[in-house]
Amino acid sequence: MRVHKMKNLEYNTKYPSIEDLRNRAKQRIPRFAFEYLDGGCNEEINLRKNTSEIREVELQPKYLNANPNSSMKTELFGHEYDAPFGIAPVGLQGLMWPNASEILAKAAFEHNIPFILSTVTTTSIERASELTEGRAWFQLYHPTENSVRDDIIARAQAAECPVLVLLCDVPTFGFRPKEIKNGLSMPPKMTVNNMLQILGKPRWALETLKHGQPNFETLRPYMPNNLNLKHLGLFMDRLFSKRMPEEKIAPIRDLWKGKLVLKGVATEEDAERAIKLGLDGIIVSNHGGRQLDAGESTIKPLTRIADKYGDQIKVMMDSGIRSGPDIARTLACGADFTFMGRSFMYGAAALGKEGGNHTISLLKTQLQQVMHQIGCERTSDFPGHLKM
Ligand SMILES: Cc1cc2nc3c(=O)[nH]c(=O)nc-3n(C[C@H](O)[C@H](O)[C@H](O)COP(=O)(O)O)c2cc1C
Repeated sequence: MRVHKMKNLEYNTKYPSIEDLRNRAKQRIPRFAFEYLDGGCNEEINLRKNTSEIREVELQPKYLNANPNSSMKTELFGHEYDAPFGIAPVGLQGLMWPNASEILAKAAFEHNIPFILSTVTTTSIERASELTEGRAWFQLYHPTENSVRDDIIARAQAAECPVLVLLCDVPTFGFRPKEIKNGLSMPPKMTVNNMLQILGKPRWALETLKHGQPNFETLRPYMPNNLNLKHLGLFMDRLFSKRMPEEKIAPIRDLWKGKLVLKGVATEEDAERAIKLGLDGIIVSNHGGRQLDAGESTIKPLTRIADKYGDQIKVMMDSGIRSGPDIARTLACGADFTFMGRSFMYGAAALGKEGGNHTISLLKTQLQQVMHQIGCERTSDFPGHLKM
């Protein structure tokens, strides 16, 4: 393996971009798993706009500044992270690459960036906390039963999760044609076609056999034994109430002692309500273009929300970010921090256990290059480089 070294950041030079990782992931995993990861809703307009509209943002260099000693270190919720980006919560990670959630949690910890564990992924809260020495954040899908909600929150508290993330942008199942065709809609089906796709990806099949069938580890205590796939979908549908109105957020604010973040904010109105509810942060997100094809890309509301409320609440963003320059553009538009979902999963699917370290090193290297190039000393200085 050829390795590129830059200030202890090592990555495999065969894959110097997220697009390279995406292409490799597509070759390595069954089509139904790749399309679950890669696809968006409906005609995938929102998915494509997320990245293309970030890329309309331009930065201005300050070449005549003294050469700055630039640093990517960024303070967030009382912790100094090594870079201004983190790993967004993704469900069913073990389906895309066996053990992907553990691979990414470990890599995030080693690189000192945040990892957010999804309620519906294949590692438990307790295990994620163990792997990250209590640094993993937890994203809660809202349970219908208050007793389940309280139990999960108590577990996250006992595991010393510093940040709880509530999701507000999944009031419905997104209409995703590829998943529907592949039988990955709820309830999921293992079709003959899917079985044939698995046979065509022996490495994935072997690793999956080695690690065993992925399970919803955090939800195990609430699931009946011997649930078959058909009933799993119906059970999940009953376990979670999808809409997240203010009345459901307020009691969680009272229960949760750590930092509380709302993910899926897309308008100034919801940002203002989050502030009134006493939340500590918001993630401006459209779920990576998986829910509302007719919606805006995230960079537009991010700019308006950061401008209006950036001094009252931490404003973060995800959806569409695929490179160091994309992270830089997003910070220049006023984000305090950024997250990515697919980029890291492409890395894990492409390179297995090396995928976490590779993807983080690559993004750090790219971002550092932009900072040196434009003369940006700290990540909070990016807005001063925005071309108006
Ligand atoms: C396959 C997949 C599964 C996801 N599952 C969850 C989830 O369980 N919880 C959640 O809050 N967000 C989930 N998301 C959304 C991500 O957290 C994030 O908002 C999105 O991936 C950002 O867009 P990007 O993939 O373009 O970076 C998922 C995204 C993908 C691609």
